[in-house]
Amino acid sequence: LRDLAADLQRPIRLGTALAAGPLLTDGAYRRTAGEEFSMLTPENDFKAQFVQPRRGVFAFEEGDTLVDFADANGMQVHAHTLVWFEALPSWMRAEMTHEDRRRVMTEHIRAVAGHFRGKVAEWDVVNEPMSDEDEDYTNGNRGVRPHLWFDAMGEQYMDIAFRTAREADPQAVLYLNEYGVEEDGPRWDALYALLIRLKKRGVPIDGVGFQNHEYAADDRTDPEAFRRKVRALAALGLKARVSEMDVLVGEGEEDAQARQFAGKLTVCREEPNCTSFSTWGFTDGYGSTADIRNYPPSPGNALPWDAEYEAKPTYWALRDALGRS
Ligand code: G3I
Repeated sequence: LRDLAADLQRPIRLGTALAAGPLLTDGAYRRTAGEEFSMLTPENDFKAQFVQPRRGVFAFEEGDTLVDFADANGMQVHAHTLVWFEALPSWMRAEMTHEDRRRVMTEHIRAVAGHFRGKVAEWDVVNEPMSDEDEDYTNGNRGVRPHLWFDAMGEQYMDIAFRTAREADPQAVLYLNEYGVEEDGPRWDALYALLIRLKKRGVPIDGVGFQNHEYAADDRTDPEAFRRKVRALAALGLKARVSEMDVLVGEGEEDAQARQFAGKLTVCREEPNCTSFSTWGFTDGYGSTADIRNYPPSPGNALPWDAEYEAKPTYWALRDALGRS
């Protein structure tokens, strides 16, 4: 996949989420990842819970393992993630003043983006800022999720986060990453309005990641709806990427999975501001950790390779979408 994507008239990166654990223990995992992908996203190893377990104490060993693997295999790292409301160490969730909360966020960004400066190509600076609650779309929050960072700084937590990340790693491409915005609806509308506000305030955001966690049975995945979003971003001068795609299937839905993956890849390949297409893991052997009903991870069915590393119809559909069978 990575070679076909590199040979396109306008090359894109083909990515996957990886974890340091199986990279160290599973040869087939390591081999397939290195051969098929030109970009990796750390599935968990860069998250605050793991890199700053205690205040001012940093743990980069697993993260560095992923960076080394990327280096050794000519892959870029799409780093994930600096500011999120999940995967936080408990000390970070504790009561503190607004001032201290802000300091914790900026210190975290400086330390983590500083450590990986020059070693990663991109960052998810802000992850999942949009709310799941209807009321946040009608009250003053304008669809922005009211979590601990918002509580301390208001929407400006994003301005501060992007500015701090830009200072800490000036070469990195800076993304906001969100789910459920590849389809039409209030969630996308609110995100689009937010992006306009960020751009007006001169916030150094470069692009948006569309997670694309899907169920094959859903029809909320129309590639043309996604194409309209990618074009709307282009008009704002922003890049787009498919950041975490997986498609859970029920019996007999394998073809639908292949169609959905290929449809999104085709849009990404065709739209000039779409830079990369990443799946959230690649083998069913470690399950779909995106499926919260399936935690702890057990073998699933949402990805292009089965648990024995046999390519599924979805893999061949991805190749077709890159112009070769
Ligand atoms: O490794 C620890 C282990 O030491 C500990 O004993 C155990 C007890 O809880 O937890 C283990 O960590 C778990 C980690 O996955 C690694 O397996 C966390 O609890 C668990 O919360 C974590 O889940 C991850 C989840 O994000 C939350 O961070 C999933 O693997 C990961 O696939 C998922 O990824 C998210 C993206 O970051 C953002 N978009 C949605 C996507 C899918 O949900």
